[in-house]
Amino acid sequence: MISVSKMAKIEGFRVKNFRVLKDVTLGKLWNMQTAGPLTPMTGVIGKNGVGKSTLLDAFGFLADCLKSGVEEACDLHGRGGFEKIRSQGQTGPIKFEVYYREEPNARPISYELEITLDESGRPYVYEERLRQLRKGQKHGWPLLS
Ligand SMILES: Nc1ncnc2c1ncn2[C@@H]1O[C@H](COP(=O)(O)OP(=O)(O)OP(=O)(O)O)[C@@H](O)[C@H]1O
Ligand SMILES: [Mg+2]
Repeated sequence: MISVSKMAKIEGFRVKNFRVLKDVTLGKLWNMQTAGPLTPMTGVIGKNGVGKSTLLDAFGFLADCLKSGVEEACDLHGRGGFEKIRSQGQTGPIKFEVYYREEPNARPISYELEITLDESGRPYVYEERLRQLRKGQKHGWPLLS
């Protein structure tokens, strides 16, 4: 059985240039501290084609990127490759930002991943950044960048 109390809790999520989601933010982010965090259960409502399934696959795609690498993730689950996934008409990287806590009272962590194409047309990690506030700090420096 999964112990819910031990699961990390996502407080916010931002997706850029992922299919129909050109720039969507849910909950709280590293640089958006006044927004409220996501609650343990989040519902997504909207008319057809608005991007509900895309939002769920944004989490799936990010998980695949971490598990299998960005190049393979673009082709998994019928995604059809980077150019199919990037929002039409956009040339910037696909970007994800996750703001989460590993435990309820742990200091929040911000994880950012940007993916784009190299000169030969292969998807690669353009930027990856992990940040966590140190004890007593209000405005933290990156732990890794
Ligand atoms: N690369 C892309 N750039 C821009 N839009 C895209 C891209 N790929 C797919 N789309 C659009 O995303 C939309 C589909 O989004 P999605 O399937 O997430 O919607 P949904 O809210 O789940 O809809 P439904 O209620 O029908 O399930 C379609 O309109 C499609 O044209
Ligand atoms: Mg859908």
